[in-house]
Amino acid sequence: MSADLLIGVYPPMAPRAILRRPAPPLFPFNQPGLALTHLGRGAAWLALGALGLGPGSRIAMPSYHCGSEVEAARLAGCEIDFYRVDANLQVDREDLARVAANSDAAYLISYFGFEIPACPAGVLVIEDAAHALFSDAADGPIGSRGDAAVFCPRKTVGVPDGGAVLLRTGPSPATEGHPNTYAMMRSAASLLAGRAAISHSRHLRSAASRLIAKTSRADAAARSGELTEVVIGEWDLEVGDMEAAASGPAPLTARIVDRTDGAGVRAARRRNYEILLKGGLGEYAPEPFRHLPPGVAPLYFPLSVNDREATLIRLLDRGIRGLEVWPVPHPLLDRQQFSQLEPARSNLLALPVHQLLEPWHMDLVLTAAKSALIR
Ligand SMILES: Cc1ncc(COP(=O)(O)O)c(C=O)c1O
Repeated sequence: MSADLLIGVYPPMAPRAILRRPAPPLFPFNQPGLALTHLGRGAAWLALGALGLGPGSRIAMPSYHCGSEVEAARLAGCEIDFYRVDANLQVDREDLARVAANSDAAYLISYFGFEIPACPAGVLVIEDAAHALFSDAADGPIGSRGDAAVFCPRKTVGVPDGGAVLLRTGPSPATEGHPNTYAMMRSAASLLAGRAAISHSRHLRSAASRLIAKTSRADAAARSGELTEVVIGEWDLEVGDMEAAASGPAPLTARIVDRTDGAGVRAARRRNYEILLKGGLGEYAPEPFRHLPPGVAPLYFPLSVNDREATLIRLLDRGIRGLEVWPVPHPLLDRQQFSQLEPARSNLLALPVHQLLEPWHMDLVLTAAKSALIR
């Protein structure tokens, strides 16, 4: 079956986003200590450097992670100790306190924009809010409590690239240079095609989706069951890669970020998440993600499925491009020691809830998910 649209997990780029007036900035864009970077890992790299974490430092990191933040700490020269995260992606707070007590710093990650643990006392803290732009916890915005915070606007906003680092005290870290213009133009073109693939015009949607299907390596890999091999591999990097990731962002990214209505993004994402919850998908989400606490701006809707590969193909047949969530940890992690996370690594799948999706798109996501799940 081939669908006449393509809905991805990350937001595409609407031409409107480039042209509109600057919006009143929401946290973290209203903070003087913020610097935009090319990638999120570059933001982590700058945060580590600004806090003086490098050779001779120990850092406590979660056993459930993307991998590129661990790679930044490894390349900075830190010794990494992992703390336990359970099968429901809840941090074991006792283990975090124990590991942090023997470390110079603790690295905390918000999963999918949901709350992260309180900062352990007595150590430097980096909050990784790569999933949590515009997300608030009970005591304030995620990323506002640590000594430094890392963001990844490209995941939430629909921009060609972009990470961001925030230092709680002191000036914002300096970034040098910009990414390759040609690569950024390609990225912008593919984001514009992604916008066309969800447009109101059926002809436009269908032409754009066909074009993307022909050119997307990820879609081809999902269909051939090789998605994991294609999406991982963000390690074995070199210091030069981190320095490049820590350069400034594409000028187009900076322009769009300035024009983004963060409160609107959060409200639309919440509405879309609620549509999937009300539609009955809650029972397939890991327990902590079955309700949406106030203030959370969800990155996506996590589902736990036994046959993820086949489910992804069934979704793609209906024009929904789901995502495997962190199938492989960083090689520094002893997978046997943290084996409670293995089911999450093989079963978690993300569905789109981004702000450019309207209720009619969400009906399609819901219908596709139900038919892919209930067989
Ligand atoms: C939690 C977390 N931190 C950091 C990063 C690094 O972001 P980037 O891929 O932009 O370097 C990611 C990326 O997937 C992430 O999920």
